[in-house]
Amino acid sequence: LFSGRVEFKLSAPALKFLPEPEVPEIAFCGRSNVGKSSLLNALTGRRAIARTSVTPGRTQELNFFEVGEPTETAPCLFRLVDMPGYGFAKAPPAVVEKWRRLVRDFLRGRVVLKRTLLLVDARHGVKPVDAEMMTMLDEAAVGYRVVLTKADKLKATELEAVIERTRAEARKHIAAHPEVLVTSSEVKLGIEALRAAVLEDAGV
Ligand code: GTP
Ligand code: MG
Repeated sequence: LFSGRVEFKLSAPALKFLPEPEVPEIAFCGRSNVGKSSLLNALTGRRAIARTSVTPGRTQELNFFEVGEPTETAPCLFRLVDMPGYGFAKAPPAVVEKWRRLVRDFLRGRVVLKRTLLLVDARHGVKPVDAEMMTMLDEAAVGYRVVLTKADKLKATELEAVIERTRAEARKHIAAHPEVLVTSSEVKLGIEALRAAVLEDAGV
């Protein structure tokens, strides 16, 4: 499926710009620079369908990508949503507040949102801002999987330790899937498992 049609649909700076809720959606969220856009590219096997950047806070809108051919009744099979990153230290309070409202309202109101992938940098583990995001997802009753990113940056023993800590954190949250996924976009680790999870969650 991911080797077929994958296309950028639109970028929504506010809820009124969202596409019609006509197909299932899976969203990617996580701290700025955690590797959301890179993972989306790895997942779809595209080099740069989502814009990546060394500058944190690059993605500031909800970006929608369509997967699968259009049918008579739907524009595609499902959509992936690249969400703006949080926890960017240099962001002015007004920007943080705008982010908070956009993300919270999207999570609460989006009926076609099947699942969210919450990305956590394997080098840092779950930070207080990530735990806050997990609580926001719990409260919005949106199920999510915790996905460790940049696993290539750690030694095997360090990775085992962070997986264990992350699992323990996930178990504290009602809407979190108990299993933690481990990935690296750089060396293409865990990408097949992530694809399978996304297809299952999208119900396709
Ligand atoms: P924002 O849009 O700013 O929230 O960032 P993002 O979460 O989309 O991160 P992005 O994908 O732009 O990646 C940020 C930086 O991390 C880039 O320099 C990437 O090259 C790097 N990066 C992403 N994934 C990996 C990975 O698996 N391994 C390594 N080593 N670096 C990665
Ligand atoms: Mg991004």
